[in-house]
Amino acid sequence: MLPLPDLNPKAMDDRIEALRKTLGKRVTILGHHYQDDSVIRHVDLRGDSLELARKVKDIESEHIVFCGVYFMAESAALLARRGQKVHLPEMSANCVMAQMAPADLVERVLRQCNEARKVVPLAYVNSSVAVKGVTGKFGGAVCTSANAKKMMDWAFRQAEAVLFLPDKNLAWNSADLLGIPEDARHMVNIRHGGAEMDMNAVNDARLIMWPGCCAIHARFNVRQIESRRAEHPGARVMVHPECSPAVVAKADAAGSTSFIIKYVAEAKEGDTVIVGTEINLVERLAEQYKGKVTVVPLLESECSHMDRTRPVHLLSVLESIADPGNPAWPPCIVTVDPGVAANATSSLDRMLKEMQ
Ligand code: 13P
Ligand code: SF4
Repeated sequence: MLPLPDLNPKAMDDRIEALRKTLGKRVTILGHHYQDDSVIRHVDLRGDSLELARKVKDIESEHIVFCGVYFMAESAALLARRGQKVHLPEMSANCVMAQMAPADLVERVLRQCNEARKVVPLAYVNSSVAVKGVTGKFGGAVCTSANAKKMMDWAFRQAEAVLFLPDKNLAWNSADLLGIPEDARHMVNIRHGGAEMDMNAVNDARLIMWPGCCAIHARFNVRQIESRRAEHPGARVMVHPECSPAVVAKADAAGSTSFIIKYVAEAKEGDTVIVGTEINLVERLAEQYKGKVTVVPLLESECSHMDRTRPVHLLSVLESIADPGNPAWPPCIVTVDPGVAANATSSLDRMLKEMQ
């Protein structure tokens, strides 16, 4: 790996902006809300997972630079037009939850689930494209935190039972919203390649849940809510549905990243909102609404993978586009295995169609 340029932050920002100007319409930069301010200030489009996935299809530029984590760039590569290139500035930026569901294991578990009856998979967008391919193959769809309830309802219209993966918390919280009885839910045992699955419980359940979760949202707990409420009497607590069901039950509201942003935007002057989600977003909201709404983090919980993308990585990608083949700027292009693309696309398209 060649050394990246050692510029001061101002010089780095200037160089990025100069390259954006030179490259013009050839490049569109996307950024997830969890990205650091130093990166988000350079993006053309920012959004949550659903908003960004929806925007990809309308992008005409030759290059899409995705400031986020690997699965997001993979989804963009899947939805991109022929010949369009998708770049992930920091290739090691991953999602720990997505990594909890390897595609071969998902396929093995699904095969067993489908032995006695039809079980349709519903894959949270925080999963690899290979998992989305397996999901498509079994007639399932993708969902995001913004539409998990709606898509779970869709999945129950396709089959008697649903396997939701990889987030057990989003599964449980969505099932609560749909009124699925607790005794109709089962957490599948994925140990030893699925060899220890309790097939009686699997065949009895309406909702089968994969035992994954987000380490960043799993840090929030009920005690933190109690102590924050004691510090800020009258404050409302808003959390992301990747938090545990106990935290969601204790909060005043739960919703996706876009829902959290809307909730704060619609708060009345003088309100205090305690927010339980990734700290980069919470701090940005606190700054944006300073003087109108007090935004307090439930706890400072950072997604270290989201935070891996720094301006220097964005700069390197833009240099590689402006000067292809120059070994100083190694390309960071995300591609999709053609063997899984068709099935993965159908699972994503099922979601996008349902959301129209
Ligand atoms: P959103 O779907 O709300 O953008 O969340 C993505 C994510 O990674 C949450 O941790
Ligand atoms: Fe994945 Fe959690 Fe980071 Fe979101 S916050 S990208 S779910 S690890």
